Amino acid sequence: MAVVGIVPAAGSGERLGASGPKAFVACAGRPLIDWSLEVLAAVCDRVVVAVPPGYEDGDDRVVGGRHRSQSVRAALEAAPEATVAVVHDAARPFLTVALVERCVAQVRAGWDGAVAAAPMTDTVKEAGPDGRVLRTLDRSTLWAIQTPQVFAADALRQALAVPDRVLAGATDDASLVEAAGGSVRVVEAPPENVKVTWPADLRAAEAVLRARAAV
Ligand code: C5P
Repeated sequence: MAVVGIVPAAGSGERLGASGPKAFVACAGRPLIDWSLEVLAAVCDRVVVAVPPGYEDGDDRVVGGRHRSQSVRAALEAAPEATVAVVHDAARPFLTVALVERCVAQVRAGWDGAVAAAPMTDTVKEAGPDGRVLRTLDRSTLWAIQTPQVFAADALRQALAVPDRVLAGATDDASLVEAAGGSVRVVEAPPENVKVTWPADLRAAEAVLRARAAV
């Protein structure tokens, strides 16, 4: 069984307002992506990173696509030996070996996909374009979906074999596996498994990572 890490890191990170791509901004003394790569290297046989054009120097780097799932597809195509794919966003630096292993275990147990997730703590409402609330959802069954997302690699390959316009609309890879008929389950993640999106997220992540390094 070849467990391969797939890291989409080809986003521009416009919301972060940095001068370069988000995955490569400095975070607590190293590029943001390195926090995740260190953990993935401990669990995976190999890690393939999808990077923006100009960042492809180095082992196991491929140029990503215009949309996130196109980047995932490009990286997975570079790892034909993968039987289990561990997809993880470069923007989540608090990944842990334990969380990856819990997701991998679920795929080994027969699920097509196992995704890190947090139970919703906010009330969630659906609103129309004018702001009018249309309905309030039952929070007790709702999960906010994160990465890592671990898949039986063939199930992910099949799910990604769709037109680019379908990939463009996908905000995660599990939704593509679900649409292809695959079985996907949630795995509760530690509360700190947050994504760096805004400048304030980066400052908060730096503070936590530096505090951790100091103990
Ligand atoms: O923009 P967002 O934070 O949702 O991106 C999630 C991850 O997908 C990031 O690590 C980003 O670098 C990656 N991505 C990518 N290719 C794209 C867009 C985003 O690899 N075209």
